[in-house]
Amino acid sequence: MSLIDSQITEIDQELAKKQPKQIIKDALERFNNIAISFSGAEDVVLIDLALKAKKDIQVFSLDTGRLHPQTYAYIDQIRKHYGITIELVSPDHQELEPFIKEKGLFSFYEDGHNECCSIRKINPLKRKLKTVDAWITGQRKDQSPGTRNSIPVFQKDNFEGTSGDLYKFNPLANWSSEDVWNYIQMFDVPYNPLHNQGFISIGCQPCTRAVLPNQHEREGRWWWENEGGKECGLHASNIITKG
Ligand code: ADX
Ligand code: SF4
Repeated sequence: MSLIDSQITEIDQELAKKQPKQIIKDALERFNNIAISFSGAEDVVLIDLALKAKKDIQVFSLDTGRLHPQTYAYIDQIRKHYGITIELVSPDHQELEPFIKEKGLFSFYEDGHNECCSIRKINPLKRKLKTVDAWITGQRKDQSPGTRNSIPVFQKDNFEGTSGDLYKFNPLANWSSEDVWNYIQMFDVPYNPLHNQGFISIGCQPCTRAVLPNQHEREGRWWWENEGGKECGLHASNIITKG
């Protein structure tokens, strides 16, 4: 499917008036080959909502090799709980091994997270996105006032390296963290136990820490770096949008 800019804006504006449940339903109806990207955190609500619209859904997680043991256990719990397949997308060993050989396992503390994220997350994501027409993410505006406050519900994804037209849905864009947690509680959705230990935003284990009361969730990610860079590149257009 190829959409022109005005059609994309129109769909986005239409969907922005709807609740996540309708947005996901619409996404699954529009695109046959569409996948949910599940990080093993509160974005589980995407899976719960999607299964209410369609039984056969495509879900993938980027297995960076550095997720918390609790997150691995949780991803497997979700696989069994919903009876779904979760595709784990791994880094390319031909890229990863020379990188670790040269720089060790914790180079991101010294020269920033970009190189490691690019090998462990972004390149595997590019590989996966080449196989689909659209993807669904759990991004929300309230997750990062610095980089996510204008994310649309529907957008064309100009992810570098993906061929052809790729579209992206962010059904939770206009939900707050409170909305997500109300949903999780109301529908008894299993959640990552790290959330009971002060973790709000959950990424890789060495690059995520619990936050204190009243600290913003993003402060627990790549805490040794400056505010502006707290995107790993999965959602590169957020940085561009910020300009
Ligand atoms: S990140 O860019 O900072 O790492 P964040 O953790 O906020 O992203 O998650 C936002 C959305 O990006 C998630 O809801 C999910 O759709 C996608 N995402 C992030 N990490 C992963 C992952 N490891 N596997 C699959 N999707 C992910
Ligand atoms: Fe590497 Fe940290 Fe990025 Fe994970 S979040 S890919 S460990 S730099």
